Amino acid sequence: MRKTESEAETMEWASEFAGNLRSGDVVALTGELGTGKTQVVKGICDRFGCLEMVSSPTFTIINEYVTPEITIKHVDLFRLEESARMFETGFFDLFDGHGIVLVEWAEKVYDCLPLPYWHVSLEHGLRPWERVIKWKRVVKSPAREERRKQA
Ligand SMILES: Nc1ncnc2c1ncn2[C@@H]1O[C@H](COP(=O)(O)OP(=O)(O)O)[C@@H](O)[C@H]1O
Ligand SMILES: [Mg+2]
Repeated sequence: MRKTESEAETMEWASEFAGNLRSGDVVALTGELGTGKTQVVKGICDRFGCLEMVSSPTFTIINEYVTPEITIKHVDLFRLEESARMFETGFFDLFDGHGIVLVEWAEKVYDCLPLPYWHVSLEHGLRPWERVIKWKRVVKSPAREERRKQA
């Protein structure tokens, strides 16, 4: 867990975290609007030298940033109404093991993410500039685990 007190600190955390990432990794970013998911994407991209390419892929859903070292695929599912529509977006083609995939609003598609993945959750803190970041490697489907417990 990490508390940050500015946009810059969140980016700094993200570029440290990016040291864990390799081609083929998937990062699920969750948290309300304005908690800093795109800032985390920027921090990760900064580490790989493609920060200047980042924008919110609001209309395209998927943006790709390519450097000689790595490809980063940045997905924003904010506007995705039903997960069934993902079949039309080429979403599943993203997970070909090539490049790092960063998914904003991943809570909409938990069950569709290939395991294992990194989960980074962001929350507002008490003061307007505070954010609480939590991260973990997910190796079992959260929904499937829940169903197993209830059975
Ligand atoms: N500690 C912080 N970490 C990240 N962003 C912060 C922080 N404090 C304030 N902010 C502001 O919150 C907003 C986060 O925006 P953004 O990264 O686009 O969020 P999201 O992608 O989750 O909707 C930015 O305007 C940023 O300046
Ligand atoms: Mg965003």
